[in-house]
Amino acid sequence: MSKVFLDSSNSDLMRHWRSVISGVTTNPSILKKEGGDLEEICRYMVNKHVSVESGGDFLEEAKSLWSWLSPINPSLVIKVPFLDTKGNHNLNIISDLTEKGIPVNCTAMLSLSQIVLASKAGAKYVSLFAGRIDDEGGNYQEVVKDCVTYLDNNFFDKGCELIVGSVRTIGNVLDCIRAGAHIVTIPPAVLQKMITHQYSILTSKQFEDDYVTINELRGERTGVHGT
Ligand code: E4P
Repeated sequence: MSKVFLDSSNSDLMRHWRSVISGVTTNPSILKKEGGDLEEICRYMVNKHVSVESGGDFLEEAKSLWSWLSPINPSLVIKVPFLDTKGNHNLNIISDLTEKGIPVNCTAMLSLSQIVLASKAGAKYVSLFAGRIDDEGGNYQEVVKDCVTYLDNNFFDKGCELIVGSVRTIGNVLDCIRAGAHIVTIPPAVLQKMITHQYSILTSKQFEDDYVTINELRGERTGVHGT
């Protein structure tokens, strides 16, 4: 069964979706667009997954983020992109952080081969960007399926969970759930679309129009009508 995370840094929206989400993912672009206070997010989501992304000098920044925010939320996870801007892998950084007891979400991955290496390096979470695979004409459903099969069946990497991000439509979300993603991280706008259905509104309206109070119902049974 897939878990749902919110792909956002807006703590009001975390409150709004609190009954559905079991974690939150952020990245530098989300923070730039939505703002948000990382301390407040960690406090509100305490003991729930909060992924915060490192940048620049990944190793040093990851350690600083961990010492700043993990006392507030011990379930903090540090995101490290699989590749840096020059195309060099960050696998040694992932294994160094893991050895220090800092859980890593290896992010911005687009293929099974990257997922295999990140899980070998010790990442506790591996993030696959479905929408970006789709942008390039790739079959993200097949990639999600392959990654789940690999992670679920590889004894040595057991416990590493697949987070599918970069979902842009309800169809993307449902495809990823059908493909068995352990976690799907969903932007607030897509979650909002998932609740909407005009016929549900009309149905609720019909029931509300026909609604009589419990007192009235009981009065009808006993012949004593409520006031
Ligand atoms: C996931 O962890 C990322 O924050 C996110 O889903 C990236 O999505 P994008 O491709 O829309 O930037």
